[in-house]
Amino acid sequence: MSVVRADIRPTRRRPEPARRATVVEVERATVVEVDGATAVVGGRTVWSGVDATVAAGEFVAVLGPNGAGKSTLLKAVLGLIPVAGGAIRLLGRPPGQANHAVGYLPQRRSFDTSLRVRGVDVVRLGLDGDRWGIPLPGRRSRAAAARVRELVELVGAGRYADRPIGQLSGGEQQRLLIAQALARRPELLLLDEPLDSLDLPNQAAVAALLSRICRAEGVAAVIVAHDVNPILPYLDRVIYLGHGGAASGTPAQVINSGTLTRLYGTPVEVLSTSDGRLVVVGQPEAPAHHGGRHDRHAA
Ligand SMILES: Nc1ncnc2c1ncn2[C@@H]1O[C@H](COP(=O)(O)OP(=O)(O)O)[C@@H](O)[C@H]1O
Ligand SMILES: [Mg+2]
Repeated sequence: MSVVRADIRPTRRRPEPARRATVVEVERATVVEVDGATAVVGGRTVWSGVDATVAAGEFVAVLGPNGAGKSTLLKAVLGLIPVAGGAIRLLGRPPGQANHAVGYLPQRRSFDTSLRVRGVDVVRLGLDGDRWGIPLPGRRSRAAAARVRELVELVGAGRYADRPIGQLSGGEQQRLLIAQALARRPELLLLDEPLDSLDLPNQAAVAALLSRICRAEGVAAVIVAHDVNPILPYLDRVIYLGHGGAASGTPAQVINSGTLTRLYGTPVEVLSTSDGRLVVVGQPEAPAHHGGRHDRHAA
């Protein structure tokens, strides 16, 4: 039986009192804290006075021109290079002391097309790479196999995970590498240019996947990226490194003409579309890498 609620008119009601007691701001744990940090590489100050935070479950991009020190920032968070000033804390500890909770993909990974290792094997390396070739006892081995299958499903790689990785498209390889980085249930993913060999639709697709994983798994992800526009709708925060300077905050706080022009040292315009999306126009040198290293297969 359907109930027809006839004659519902707006009635003048007192505004409800603010429900302070029941609406509690969920304070998300801080995963990374960068506090006035300076990096010196090869005797040269790459960046200084960088402030940024990454909270649990956030999807964050490190953006900026080549040589701005994006990879350096990830390495500093991992403690692979020391900061020359200021401080970085990872899960409340000095860099290098909580790396067991990080899944890290360094820049420029590629697989030879003749490589016969399967996608699932690459994912499995994230779980027991340190015991490569040494079989686990039965029960743990079954648990590991189940976790690998779960990860393959999570990144939507079920169709091709049993094929040799060298024969997969760039987008398929990236999904499997993300699964590998997630294998030990890290609290933070640090992915250095995971989108760099992908065409624009695939960059957006992988960014969408990462943003879903952040929410579903409660893991924070920091990716270094080159093209802003395809990933912008998915980001919670951005850290923008420019020539010597830096800005961080929500996309709306950072992605504006004034800030980007200052960081690039050349005019950059940010437009707002009718549906409220931000589009960066005139970002220098952005698509250069879509030439030579472009993957030959569709993802
Ligand atoms: N091992 C190194 N020795 C000296 N200089 C380096 C080294 N690695 C990086 N650099 C320099 O540090 C700066 C920042 O590099 P990087 O963090 O790789 O930039 P990005 O990732 O933004 O392209 C660049 O000027 C680069 O040339
Ligand atoms: Mg780099």
